[in-house]
Amino acid sequence: MRSLLSLVFILSLSSVFFSCNLRAKKNLSHTEVIADSVFDNHSYANVRQIRTTHLHLDLDVNFSNQTVYGVARHTMQNYGTDTAIFDMKGLEIQKVTLGKKKEEETDFIIGQWDKDSILGQPLLVTINSKTTHVNIYYKTTDKTEALDWLSPTLTTGKKHPFVYTQGQAILTRSWIPLQDSPANRITYSADVKVPQDLMAVMSAKNATKRNDKGEYHFTMKQPIPCYLIALAVGDLNYKKLGPNCGVYAEPELLQTSAREFSDLPRMIQAAEKLYGKYRWEQYDLLVLPYSFPFGGMENPRLTFVNPTVIAGDKSLVSVIAHELAHSWSGNLVTNRSWDDFWLNEGFTVYFENRIMEALYGKEISDILALIEFQELQDDLKEIAQSEHPEDTRLKLQLRGRDPDDGLTDIAYVKGAFFLKTLERDAGRERLDNFLNSYFKSFAFKTVSSETFVDYLDEHLLKPHKLAFNTNEWIYQEGIPKNCYHISSPRFDEIQSLADRFVKGENIFKRKVRWIKIKGRKKRRKQVIQLTRDKHIAQEWQAFIRRLPNTISVEKMREIDYNLHFRSWTNSEIQYEWFIKGIRADYSDIRPEMEKFLLKVGRRKYVAPIYRELAKTPENLAWAKEVFSKASEHYHPVTKITVQEILGVK
Ligand code: BES
Ligand code: ZN
Repeated sequence: MRSLLSLVFILSLSSVFFSCNLRAKKNLSHTEVIADSVFDNHSYANVRQIRTTHLHLDLDVNFSNQTVYGVARHTMQNYGTDTAIFDMKGLEIQKVTLGKKKEEETDFIIGQWDKDSILGQPLLVTINSKTTHVNIYYKTTDKTEALDWLSPTLTTGKKHPFVYTQGQAILTRSWIPLQDSPANRITYSADVKVPQDLMAVMSAKNATKRNDKGEYHFTMKQPIPCYLIALAVGDLNYKKLGPNCGVYAEPELLQTSAREFSDLPRMIQAAEKLYGKYRWEQYDLLVLPYSFPFGGMENPRLTFVNPTVIAGDKSLVSVIAHELAHSWSGNLVTNRSWDDFWLNEGFTVYFENRIMEALYGKEISDILALIEFQELQDDLKEIAQSEHPEDTRLKLQLRGRDPDDGLTDIAYVKGAFFLKTLERDAGRERLDNFLNSYFKSFAFKTVSSETFVDYLDEHLLKPHKLAFNTNEWIYQEGIPKNCYHISSPRFDEIQSLADRFVKGENIFKRKVRWIKIKGRKKRRKQVIQLTRDKHIAQEWQAFIRRLPNTISVEKMREIDYNLHFRSWTNSEIQYEWFIKGIRADYSDIRPEMEKFLLKVGRRKYVAPIYRELAKTPENLAWAKEVFSKASEHYHPVTKITVQEILGVK
């Protein structure tokens, strides 16, 4: 056990101490030495000595100065230490007290920032070996990366402000001081005060109606990792979609959202049929403003959704299937550290695809999986040429790096294809039985890649005498040779359509066919013409990808004239079309692209568009101009990424 004094010594005189001691021995940096001495490479918390079991939050959300004033009341299991270490980033700590009913102030020290300001700072609180209650009084600052404060003009209704949090991977510490490691599960409760005309919702048991006082109480009874604590405040209404599910959205978006997500009850049924009972009672969606940096975020009981998912024709609802699937893979069984992130995302993509198959059929789910497999190929190439080619392994080594670096299609798609390959070799029934027992055995626990490998051996491979190259998949780079191959005639057909068009065939020409009507002498004239509704959005996505970057501007125009890609309110298509447009020098897209960049803050779209633009000086200048207008609409997560891409501050 370490005393507070020795830690202060370590943190303040670290260079002297480490250079002659630990660092010399292991050749580690300061950050790494501190990280090495704790439980998780991305947290300072000493959860082996003392760990939070329950967190109560008293929060006051102040829109006029864009600040959350909070008290984080930690109920802790103390194994006999005199220091409790929490994570914090960009917070102002006012005081720390000990005790439940009677509170007494205690000393605290805020340690140094890590080299790249990734982890934030350790907050060291003096306690005694019997302490079980630590209360941290704090406020957020303009450096709080988890919070996105939106003025009314950035909402759909344009009348009320909005704020929401994004915790994953390690941003919860920027709005709550806590032990921010996915390996420590806690229950939580909260009392939140907001302006009277707004409603607060959390990843917890929520009200469905507003209250006049603007005071909301929340409870999350199941233990969750801290990255899943989430809050949103805005002009919200609720609509029920099924017995245990519904949607929160701004009033202006509520009807469209309810229509788009009306398959949700069937998705929940399908998911439960696959991998066991839904363990969180209620499953609601919250439609956020367009600045939300992700497509979806699986906050328990309340998935956060980007409004770009609302295409108007349900064509992007696989995002909902994905976030729902996280209720098992990720929220119920959680990655032990961010190095094991594939256990969250790879399992979820596999599970998502199974839900899509159950609802819409295998032909569709295969097309969706192929679209992702293509993206994986791009990522593989890019990572192989990057400074971390080892990142094509499923099990990562992100020590000293931002866990966001692991947010690639390796975790998502290589992870999912690992399970698809396993399904092919073991048989669907056996794999499903195995996954069922996996989710049961590790419910409300965390799992590392190593634990998973042992469990797989013990419960699937050995009992059925199966040989499988698990280690190659998890610990080696690239995609193993035995990777499952999907063949989809529809996918092949749309690619050949693109090829024929490029070669000069007029695919948009109206064709007239005479067809015989049964039992009659006469024939009937039928006009055949290729229109957008002949294929699903993902087929058009494949069509666009197949076009060469050297395609002529005339041909791009011809496609737009017939299929209207650049103004199709389907974000995946718009995104794909903009990327191809930039590469092909098709500047007609600029007005729509600018509109898109000014509205949408989803990083998966925005970052690659800017990255593509940054490749020529002329486009880069244009991109900088757009970014200067757009950046205030972006969540810090997106803003920081784009600043790096464009080289601006
Ligand atoms: N949990 C992720 C989002 C995430 C991961 C945020 C890591 C921060 C760090 C979420 O479930 C997700 O994967 N969202 C995807 C959509 C999905 C359909 C692939 C997204 O936002 O694009
Ligand atoms: Zn996910």
